[in-house]
Amino acid sequence: MTSFVFKKQTIPLLYSITAAWLVPVSAQVGPFFPVHHSGASDVKFTKTFNYEFKHPGIDFTHDDMERVREGVLQQQEPWKSAWERFIALPGASSNYTMSEVMEEISRGVVTTNRGFERDGWAALYNTIAWYITRDQRHFDKATSIIDAWGTTLKRFTGLDNSLGVHGGLAFVNAAEILRSEGGWIEEGESYRGSTGFSGMLYRVMAPAVVSIGQSNYGIAMVQSLMAISIYLEDVVMWNYAMNEYQNNVCGGIKGLINPQTGQSSESGRDQGHVQFGLGISLHASLIAWNQGHDLFHFENSTLRRGLEYSAKYNSNETVPYDPRYARCNSRLVAGPWPKISEVGRGELSTWWLAAREFYNKVLREHVPSVERLASLKNYSPDPFYELMYSR
Ligand SMILES: *[C@@H]1O[C@H](CO)[C@@H](O)[C@H](O)[C@H]1NC(C)=O
Ligand SMILES: *[C@@H]1O[C@H](CO)[C@@H](O)[C@H](O)[C@H]1NC(C)=O
Ligand SMILES: *[C@@H]1O[C@H](CO)[C@@H](O)[C@H](O)[C@H]1NC(C)=O
Repeated sequence: MTSFVFKKQTIPLLYSITAAWLVPVSAQVGPFFPVHHSGASDVKFTKTFNYEFKHPGIDFTHDDMERVREGVLQQQEPWKSAWERFIALPGASSNYTMSEVMEEISRGVVTTNRGFERDGWAALYNTIAWYITRDQRHFDKATSIIDAWGTTLKRFTGLDNSLGVHGGLAFVNAAEILRSEGGWIEEGESYRGSTGFSGMLYRVMAPAVVSIGQSNYGIAMVQSLMAISIYLEDVVMWNYAMNEYQNNVCGGIKGLINPQTGQSSESGRDQGHVQFGLGISLHASLIAWNQGHDLFHFENSTLRRGLEYSAKYNSNETVPYDPRYARCNSRLVAGPWPKISEVGRGELSTWWLAAREFYNKVLREHVPSVERLASLKNYSPDPFYELMYSR
């Protein structure tokens, strides 16, 4: 192992805080086919042909990358200051020292995937730094990290391997941008079959997230399948993820947010888990948007109600709480809970800025509680979020 250690704020808080809090519960028992009242064919935003995928089209589109680049080059705020903080991060340096690359990594009980996650962020940060500066050293750093893991990793194990795959999505985002914007050809690409990153995604990462779990596990797996399927142009995988998001009553949006009130199904557990799940739903909706689909208004804007409810509570305001509404298998985590939880209240995840910016400036919708929360003194988004999600 390398002795290189990231500063705390280097890995977005969405992942770092909650990762420490997540108690291994069991990602999945199954697969169970999701049976629901309306039938599996009732699913929106499916694709039929590989060419329907838009690239780059996971977390960031070409226009997103251009907006950020222009902001930095023209020295406009908030990009100017965000960039100064961002480029000082160890992971954004072209001198970043990679972790030990392993054939097998694990998350849960035995956890050995930390270096993989850190390297994924460094690959994405270097990709962004390359896009903005066009400095070849950043490009080479990013691609060498992705190729090293892509050609080496064979097994992702452990009780929480699905969350581990989710923690590695920065790799997929980096690869998507490098391939579409930089003409990168992955090591091991061949008409005989990939021995590199694509093959690793398909054979190692995707299988760990196919059997959708509940609540945060579920939505993390859905988001992972969305990202992986875009990179691979896997139509069936994409459609499967869309169905799970919309219709899986344990692991999809309805398993996370009460469509009437916006209460989270883990509001009674702790606010770290609540924010983890909401952040993932937000990012899944952003990915779908980049593919031309609107999950923000799905089911009468359930996501928006969920964001507003928890933004309100985490800014110390009062919200109605229904003790009956809880996640599937809440028994595994001492639920259902009689009261809304104070644990983690006001310890804000970094992604709230992305919610405010998208609702205000793209959807042109007012989200008063999110806006209030994002202006609190104790909310300070990390430089990656400020740089990439400001509009
Ligand atoms: C990378 O390391 C080289 C050689 O030590 C040094 O000259 C350079 O300034 C470093 N670059 C960054 C971005 O830290
Ligand atoms: C949709 O939500 C709004 C509040 O956000 C509510 O006024 C309206 O009645 C809802 N519509 C349906 C069909 O549930
Ligand atoms: C919320 O309440 C806690 C405890 O009283 C306090 O420490 C914190 O500053 C309050 N936060 C806001 C945003 O009012």
